[in-house]
Amino acid sequence: MVISFGSINMDLVVRCERAPEQGETIVSTGWLTNPGGKGANQAVQASRIGAETFLVGRVGSDAFGRDAMNGLSAYRVDVGGVMVDPILPTGVAYILVERSGENRIVVVPGANGAVGAAELKILEGLLQPGAVLLLQCEIPFAVVLEAARIAHEKGATVILDPSPWESVTLMPGVFADVDYLMPNEGEARALAGTSNLDAAAAVFLGMGARTVVLKRGDKGVVAAGAFECPEVPAFSVVAVDTTAAGDSFQGAFAASLDLGFDADTALCRAMAAAALTVTRMGAQQSMPDEVEVTAFLEARLHKGDHLPKQQI
Ligand code: RIB
Repeated sequence: MVISFGSINMDLVVRCERAPEQGETIVSTGWLTNPGGKGANQAVQASRIGAETFLVGRVGSDAFGRDAMNGLSAYRVDVGGVMVDPILPTGVAYILVERSGENRIVVVPGANGAVGAAELKILEGLLQPGAVLLLQCEIPFAVVLEAARIAHEKGATVILDPSPWESVTLMPGVFADVDYLMPNEGEARALAGTSNLDAAAAVFLGMGARTVVLKRGDKGVVAAGAFECPEVPAFSVVAVDTTAAGDSFQGAFAASLDLGFDADTALCRAMAAAALTVTRMGAQQSMPDEVEVTAFLEARLHKGDHLPKQQI
């Protein structure tokens, strides 16, 4: 069982050749709205990989919330743990996607900012020993930490994506209930206050994380802690939109652990899912299912593509 405890957004996406400079006006090449939010995205990817998946979070009583919930149900995510806030609107993310596929995101928390005691109670009721809990930081950080604590107490595995990094308060032992901390490299540098990734990983391990996986986009991942391979290169693909690649990575990693794969194999499967995700536009609709991930891995392994030696 995989549980994602986190944000649900509606993404308002604008495509452009390049991001405008300060004070500059440019013309878009197209726009769309699609359901997103790191919590929801990670749940969708876990479900697409084949794990029984639950989402706990909060939406507003509005059209964006209803659309997001309908989408999640269509992806077979159990949304019984999603509350409807009577006052606050559904969270929104403004996303600019450049022709290169790179993105810039601003989130407006809305109902995500009100996730708290009620959702923690729902989570506590769902958690079982052996469950895998996915956490991100688009809900209040104190609530994230409490969710991790409860999950550990119940014998679950905890995966934390410390994004947006500015929501995170670093303090001794802050990651004591985190089994896998998975920042992207930019956020890891900003959070740890160092440009050296090894030093950043050491900071996070020093604050209690059992393992750290630094996501480096097309440069692959660097893993510190209980992994056989400290570095896994990325699969080479043509990027269309990198939005939610990290969510795809985490969701697929969690689902793979839940399905019984060891952590190193789960990493490779997560890399494959994220690689496929960046070849398509959008967030949840860009995420591959188990059949696609397996076929992609088989094709790449057949080619001897890049994977760590013991995986080939
Ligand atoms: O990680 C991508 C997600 O970040 C988007 O879907 C957006 O909603 C923001 O939460």
